[in-house]
Amino acid sequence: MIVVTGATGNVGRALVRMLTEAQVPVTAVARHITGADVPPGVRAVAADLAEPAGLRVAFDGAEALFLLVAGENPHGILEVAKTAGIRKVVLLSSQGAGTRPEAYRHPGLFEAAVRESGLGWTILRSGGMATNAFAWAESIRTRREVAAPFGDVGLPFIDPDDVAAVAAAVLGQDAHLGTVYTLTGPAPTTPRERAAAIAAALGEPVHFTEQTREEAHKLMARFMPLPVVEGTLAILGEPTEGEQRVSPDVERVLGRAPGTFAAWAERSAAAFR
Ligand SMILES: NC(=O)c1ccc[n+]([C@@H]2O[C@H](COP(=O)([O-])OP(=O)(O)OC[C@H]3O[C@@H](n4cnc5c(N)ncnc54)[C@H](OP(=O)(O)O)[C@@H]3O)[C@@H](O)[C@H]2O)c1
Repeated sequence: MIVVTGATGNVGRALVRMLTEAQVPVTAVARHITGADVPPGVRAVAADLAEPAGLRVAFDGAEALFLLVAGENPHGILEVAKTAGIRKVVLLSSQGAGTRPEAYRHPGLFEAAVRESGLGWTILRSGGMATNAFAWAESIRTRREVAAPFGDVGLPFIDPDDVAAVAAAVLGQDAHLGTVYTLTGPAPTTPRERAAAIAAALGEPVHFTEQTREEAHKLMARFMPLPVVEGTLAILGEPTEGEQRVSPDVERVLGRAPGTFAAWAERSAAAFR
């Protein structure tokens, strides 16, 4: 049995699907989840990573855990996992934990807790995900318009299905224990190019407007803590060489290149229509 936390999210939903297709028994966890949110045969348990004591029911009888960074008590989560008999944890962290540890302290704390847990572990440091473009869905649907900062700065965004595929592979093989993988897409794309890829998938033009850093800051601060806003804007606007580099790790684990942003946009066009 594998426990997948964040099971209704972009990555978790795909991971539950992939494990189920491979006939691996899954317990799917999120704060708001019912049997209707998961494929037939998957056990759904509503629980909050911020309250580790409540995870016991979800973790019982499992051997591995796919863990998101959520809540403030990673040690508590991992203690419950150990007591329940889990022997391996795969943590979905952020590339920023390596490149900007001060801004990304929260994933860094989860990484440290996982390394110290005594469990077998693998850490997946994901770069920006293609699904961040869902933030443009409403303005594209209603006005065929995108506003974003740093329109011509490229980053190798990853398709969350590839993050899920790497997680499924790593959960299934102990050869990956004790490894930190950096996950990116196959090539940098700029916000302007991503808007154009969505336009191509729709078969209609989408107008791109470049926001100032200040405009973007104000909007992001509505739903992100300030250090994360600063860290994210720094990555989007002044990425380091490491943040712009395409990582070989997806291909190393999966034996194939990661999918392109354009392919993700084609598959996801309905959200922008
Ligand atoms: N987007 C990026 O560019 C990026 C880059 C690097 C790393 N990441 C990491 O990747 C993770 C997954 O991304 P995603 O796109 O799949 O996220 P998502 O679509 O926002 O989904 C988040 C999932 O986690 C669940 N969840 C949130 N807080 C929880 C809590 N306290 N306890 C239990 N479940 C909780 C949500 O369900 P409920 O709301 O029902 O609980 C949902 O199932 C993110 O959380 C982030 O840490 C993202």
